[in-house]
Amino acid sequence: MNTTSIALSERIIVALDVDTPEQAKALVKKCESHVSFYKVGLQLFMASWFETVDWLIDRGHKVMLDLKFFDIPETVKQAVEQVNSRGVTFATIHGNDPIIRAAVSARGDLQLLAVTVLTSFGEEDMRAMGMTGTVADLVYFRAKRALELGCDGVVSSGLEAEKLRRDLGEKLLIVTPGIRPGANTCDQGDDQQRIVTAGRAIAGGADHVVVGRPITRAIDPIKVIEQMQSDISCLGRQGNR
Ligand code: C5P
Repeated sequence: MNTTSIALSERIIVALDVDTPEQAKALVKKCESHVSFYKVGLQLFMASWFETVDWLIDRGHKVMLDLKFFDIPETVKQAVEQVNSRGVTFATIHGNDPIIRAAVSARGDLQLLAVTVLTSFGEEDMRAMGMTGTVADLVYFRAKRALELGCDGVVSSGLEAEKLRRDLGEKLLIVTPGIRPGANTCDQGDDQQRIVTAGRAIAGGADHVVVGRPITRAIDPIKVIEQMQSDISCLGRQGNR
């Protein structure tokens, strides 16, 4: 069980959703006085492969590699093996039991997070796909299964974090994207649907929040980070994580 408290500088994981390693490095240099955890996702990884990942780790930062592996179990296992000795802290996977089992068997020191339901996916999308139940039910079912299969944690929206923390316990890492400053509704004009503020996510039980556009597109990223960190400090759990 993780009983150490998480430093404020690691609560926000800044999503480096930019086109080039140069842009990513410039953004990190602006943010690193306040933030020491960064996410490399598909956009930047396609542009720089491991260059930015290695640069971040050499600089002493933590990295979440968000490539959401989803393929046949053997391919996912081999992909996880490619990552597990590189110093990455979190990597993300998708999928059913055999895929998750294969990833877990190859993870080494890497902490594996299972994506439950994308934060851009809402109740109407469930209906459109002919799925019954609620998004929250599906998130809970997938999170419980991921934990049983040996994943270290899950990616879920802040709307579900509280129930996951309460019912699945302290061992589960919860990482929450879909963060919007002042977010109480879905009317934020972008693709995210299940959104909350950074403070609410952490207060509800999330360990980390993933924040992209509110920081990457801000005129003053540090101001946004300081506001979110203050929100986290005021509202966030001061418990044992
Ligand atoms: O710009 P924004 O703050 O919406 O970025 C959220 C980031 O979190 C993106 O990089 C996106 O890929 C990622 N993410 C997500 N929902 C998930 C998993 C990852 O939005 N379930």
